[in-house]
Amino acid sequence: MRKKKIKGIILAGGSNTRLFPLTATTSKQLLPIYDRQMIFYPINVLVKAGIKDILIIVAPEHSGQFLNLLGSIFEKYNIHIEFKVQKIPRGLADAFIMGEDFIDEGNVAMILGDNIFEDDLGKAIGKFEKGGMIFAKEVSDDPRRYGIIEFDKDGNAVSIEEKPENPKSNFCVAGAYVFDNRVIDIAKKLKPSKRGEIEITDVNRKYLEMGELHVEKLSGEWMDAGTFDSLLETGRIVKEKEIYKKFDPIIDMAIFEFNKELKELAKKRLR
Ligand code: DAU
Repeated sequence: MRKKKIKGIILAGGSNTRLFPLTATTSKQLLPIYDRQMIFYPINVLVKAGIKDILIIVAPEHSGQFLNLLGSIFEKYNIHIEFKVQKIPRGLADAFIMGEDFIDEGNVAMILGDNIFEDDLGKAIGKFEKGGMIFAKEVSDDPRRYGIIEFDKDGNAVSIEEKPENPKSNFCVAGAYVFDNRVIDIAKKLKPSKRGEIEITDVNRKYLEMGELHVEKLSGEWMDAGTFDSLLETGRIVKEKEIYKKFDPIIDMAIFEFNKELKELAKKRLR
């Protein structure tokens, strides 16, 4: 049987209130992490996994900035980027509803636009065939900020809760998810949580109940750059661990050419 095609979605919308006023003038995912915009990190995860079709979901107020940066820089590398505007941040699971036509009949890898991974997830994503796959990381900061996975003594996932008051473990769900095509229907049937969002945690839970959720543990650094402190810390770790040097060459080339073009335009303006 031929393997199903896999497409990539990046969630780069949301209200970004935790980083206000930085996010009054630009999107969180366009803020710098060391020497490049945050959005290049999730793009890198997908490109390293060999994914050529990427949908980026953005908020209306910053959609022009995303288009300006990413609208054409990957074209010549045969990487096709599309955008969709999410008017209201309905929740992470909205990615699969908004992406229904884009995903078509295949599988999908969804990455959160503010998550930075040191591990190369490409191999795991490349091997994916069916069900759901998520990534877990043990954290030392407050686990109540995240989705939390509880494991039994044999290491099997037994429960997943979104931002629990009393976390059952320190293992949090990192922002990379791979699902088969059933995720579209699962997302459509979700009811909004108490905070009014359709939760990715409910999607994960559904696959867990079906006995089809595979959990990969991350060994490298993982960061959610969604607060002032974590934004600063992420940049520091990216520099210290030289994560910025381990990008797929396509991304480095695309950034290099974009910068070159900007410099040439600036020269013309000065003439
Ligand atoms: O970072 C990992 C955590 O991400 C997980 O452990 C949690 O289970 C998961 O719910 C999520 O929690 P956050 O509270 O950190 O999610 P946040 O609201 O920051 O949204 C994550 C990204 O998705 C961010 O780049 C904004 C974007 N987003 C968010 C929402 C709610 C959208 O594009 N649209 C949305 O509707």
